[in-house]
Amino acid sequence: MSVDYLRISVTDKCNLRCVYCNPLGSCGYVEHREILSFEEIHRIARLSVRCGIQSVRLTGGEPLVRRNIVHLVQKITATPGINEVTLTTNGVLLEPMAAELKAAGLSRINVSVDSAERECYQRITGFDLLEKVTRGIYRAIEVGLTPLKINAVILKGINESQVPALARISLYLPVAVRFIEYCPTSRHTRPSHDFIANSQVRKIIESRFGPLSAILGMGANGPALYFKVRNSAGTIGFISGRTSVFCRSCNRLRLTSDGKLRPCLYSAHQYDLKKLIRSGAGDKQIMALLERIIEEKHRYTKFNSFTEDFSMQKIGG
Ligand code: GTP
Ligand code: 5AD
Ligand code: SF4
Repeated sequence: MSVDYLRISVTDKCNLRCVYCNPLGSCGYVEHREILSFEEIHRIARLSVRCGIQSVRLTGGEPLVRRNIVHLVQKITATPGINEVTLTTNGVLLEPMAAELKAAGLSRINVSVDSAERECYQRITGFDLLEKVTRGIYRAIEVGLTPLKINAVILKGINESQVPALARISLYLPVAVRFIEYCPTSRHTRPSHDFIANSQVRKIIESRFGPLSAILGMGANGPALYFKVRNSAGTIGFISGRTSVFCRSCNRLRLTSDGKLRPCLYSAHQYDLKKLIRSGAGDKQIMALLERIIEEKHRYTKFNSFTEDFSMQKIGG
């Protein structure tokens, strides 16, 4: 599989406190000077195109809390060779920003919504903001940030009961509702026994809505498998990072907000790109490192260097 997709975390800061990611803000934040500047991010994006990258996804933390993020979107979408710029957000700031993000060239967005019910949403995220996020989703669809995807991480005893209501959204909205298996990442988040396999989530959905039919070919470049409830407007996806393996078709690199390049989400292995850049390296030197990482990527998968101690917030999922 060729590596043509770069996920860039633009900040480790977030305006929510999801129990599976950063409850109580306990992970701490990286100092601002350690975070890549827009110039540094843009330079990496520009050089990565020469190494095969064609699409970029901006992540966080929460990417929309980074000041002037629209300007960064504009710079990256204007980079020759980058065909698609997308973004993963919690949706809190989406309603007022959707139109300007679209105008800046953003193609589409994925929004995290782990509950369709207000109280449960607040229990998971720490804030009573489901209504605001919902307005953001409608606005994003209106301005054409589509196809829009909803991401839900399901945890046993916390939002398992929300599975039918979340799946139901795909019946009436033209969105993909995706169920993501919880990945325990550090001692600060939920214990690993909160995990529920997607096979179980699928059973819950099928017992309520009938058999799901597979949509072959959809999402061929990503880890999700897509299905459909009969006659629904949208689709249902499963990202089963714990119970299935998609490493052989993995096409992505991840750049953390503090400038580390990771060949694999789960891998402890990472390269300090920021250090190289801030030491005054030229374009050729930076490209040589990018090429080496792409060349060596297949060595790092969830099997050979898995770590359960990393920060989703820094890596961006
Ligand atoms: P699309 O291009 O819309 O398919 O985006 P995406 O699903 O790759 O991006 P998103 O940011 O919405 O990621 C959703 C979830 O999938 C996150 O929890 C990620 O950690 C997980 N995920 C994305 N890519 C990978 C991957 O390559 N490996 C694993 N294990 N998980 C991934
Ligand atoms: N396990 C699985 N998914 C996670 N995400 C954040 N933390 C975890 C975790 N521990 C998801 C978010 C978001 C995406 C970028 O990553 O819900 O949708
Ligand atoms: Fe890619 Fe690593 Fe995920 Fe495998 S575990 S699909 S190599 S990011």
